[in-house]
Amino acid sequence: MSDSTARKRLLGPDDTRTPERVVDPTDTLEDEVYGASLRPRSFDDYVGQERIVENLRIAIAAAKRRGEPLEHVLFYGPPGLGKTTLAGLIAREMGANFRPTSGPTLEKPKDLVGVLTALEEGDVFFVDEIHRLGRVVEEFLYPAMEDFQIDFVVDRGAYAKTLKLPLKRFTLIGATTRAGMLTAPLRERFGIIGHLDYYSAAELEKIVRRSAGVLAVPIDDEGCRTIAARSRGTPRVANRLLRRVRDYAEVRAQGRITAAVADEALSREGVDEVGLDRLDRAFLRTLVEAYGGGPAGIAAIAASLTEDAETLEDVVEPYLLKEGFVIRTASGRKATPSAYRHLGVAGGAVPSQERLL
Ligand SMILES: Nc1ncnc2c1ncn2[C@@H]1O[C@H](COP(=O)(O)OP(=O)(O)OP(=O)(O)O)[C@@H](O)[C@H]1O
Ligand SMILES: [Mg+2]
Repeated sequence: MSDSTARKRLLGPDDTRTPERVVDPTDTLEDEVYGASLRPRSFDDYVGQERIVENLRIAIAAAKRRGEPLEHVLFYGPPGLGKTTLAGLIAREMGANFRPTSGPTLEKPKDLVGVLTALEEGDVFFVDEIHRLGRVVEEFLYPAMEDFQIDFVVDRGAYAKTLKLPLKRFTLIGATTRAGMLTAPLRERFGIIGHLDYYSAAELEKIVRRSAGVLAVPIDDEGCRTIAARSRGTPRVANRLLRRVRDYAEVRAQGRITAAVADEALSREGVDEVGLDRLDRAFLRTLVEAYGGGPAGIAAIAASLTEDAETLEDVVEPYLLKEGFVIRTASGRKATPSAYRHLGVAGGAVPSQERLL
């Protein structure tokens, strides 16, 4: 059984993530199993996102002083930037239990009620992918967040009554990669909202150095820099690349990671010096060669690549947009001059009208 078949079995058939991409920012089983030891254990280990961390430290200290649970927290931002990690750290700092669930598993109100009634005072109730909560489930959550109670409506019509079931005071931490998909009433019920952004090269270098220390693999500064530069601003990718480079170094370079070893190992994985992999380059090449640089619709590009349009939109395009290789226009995606330069293809600056002559 291949790796991806194994994952599909574990994660369900509707899981469209593509674990065979070493630069995929979404969580894979491999990360969960082999990346667990790399998760920061305290705020001091947590690199970057300074503003969020600072605000959390203050809010946590204040809540502790008052002897109250922390206000509800919402984290949003692209996959692999440390939302789940932060939620776990909050629980640890509060000295509270960490109770993780996710939107898709809370399918029916009774699923949610079951978890909520089992919470103890101060527990951190973590809901990953909170944008995927069902509408009805979400409505049960409102009074739970606001008044720490669940409202049941019993009977109908003139005899309808609301029964209130009190809950222990808890902290809800929601995480989402799609803040735009949250309803306004849900968003408004969070007291603290943190937007996680991509990490700088210097921050990723720090993360790679720390992770190498945890894994006890020797690495020099240039080695850290080489891996960081290809990590697409994402700690999860940095850690995964480091693990791949370590394997290569153990077999081919007496276990020591230098810039040359990292470069060699990652080039073999198809990851180039700015962190693009084969699929990213195929996307750019299709746009440039098949569509004359665009504009082209995502469905057309997907068809040319025989890839799923949603996958391209979720896991390929964001990084190409962020790095300025692609721009989105009303009429479709367009390749920028940097895309042409990166592919080593001439013609990026030529407007499409002139090309027709
Ligand atoms: N600030 C950080 N410092 C050091 N390591 C980090 C940091 N943020 C994340 N990591 C590493 O990256 C991994 C992925 O982080 P995490 O699982 O928290 O991401 P996430 O934002 O919850 O992603 P998803 O949206 O897929 O759920 C962690 O296991 C950890 O090793
Ligand atoms: Mg997560």
